[in-house]
Amino acid sequence: MTNKTSMRLMRHSFLALLFVLAMAVGVPVMAASGGSLQQANASLSDQGSLQNGAKLYFNYCSGCHSLKLMRYSRIASDLGLTEQQVMDNLNFTGAKFGDQVPPSMDVEDAKRWFGAAPPDLSLMARAKGVDYIYTYLKSFYLDPSRPLGWNNTTFPNASMPNALWELQGVQTAVFKPGEKGGDPVFEKFEMHQPGRLDPKAFDVVARDIANFLQYAAEPAGLVRKQVGVWVLLFLGVFTLLAWLLKQEYWKDVH
Ligand code: HEC
Repeated sequence: MTNKTSMRLMRHSFLALLFVLAMAVGVPVMAASGGSLQQANASLSDQGSLQNGAKLYFNYCSGCHSLKLMRYSRIASDLGLTEQQVMDNLNFTGAKFGDQVPPSMDVEDAKRWFGAAPPDLSLMARAKGVDYIYTYLKSFYLDPSRPLGWNNTTFPNASMPNALWELQGVQTAVFKPGEKGGDPVFEKFEMHQPGRLDPKAFDVVARDIANFLQYAAEPAGLVRKQVGVWVLLFLGVFTLLAWLLKQEYWKDVH
């Protein structure tokens, strides 16, 4: 091999390596940015956050929403919970440990009461993103013109009421007039009646629920994260070996 071709080869492998690293680092960053959504900073490696999210989810959301692609038993093993803990704290429907997570509400009743059926949330985080869910949960405001008295700036005219109002409190939204007679533009929220939690603690609630739904949308993501670390470690070690080997070969060339 001439010096020139081996140099070119090395440059190619180096570029390929850079590309792989950029993909590994860049993709989540790209996925996280979007519109005016707030960043949840949710992490699948934070088991405490996932457990807290599961508890909150089953207390505040599962009355209306199903998680048809999840089973209680899977949640237990993935989140490090015992069967007893799951059956006592997460399952309020009388379903069996191996069952999928059903809604506790009848879909037809829900349609009648809310005007729209609460969607299954199994894949919601994949469809809309974890930051969307986080922002959505924080964006409910009092609006007497809506049938249930609630509106949402992230999903205007959503038929879902604010399930977390006792924790968050009740906020109102301030809009400024749109330019040239256009739609009013959202400016800020104002706390109308404080809830049980201060805004910082409520952010954690919204983040943990969003995190749990991110996990539910792709339970394999937990494993992939662990595998990802090993892949990066392997790439690191491999680069070192390749470099040492190159030093060894080039000793004779010089
Ligand atoms: C009282 C019933 C009820 C409860 C409790 C409830 N939801 Fe909903 N949810 C709905 C309904 C109804 C919709 C459909 C809204 C629409 O399409 O207008 C909905 C829609 C959604 C959506 C989809 C929004 C979109 O952009 O399409 C998400 C995400 C969601 N809910 C998350 C949650 C979470 C998380 C909780 C628990 C904190 C929760 N919901 C609690 C009734 C409920």
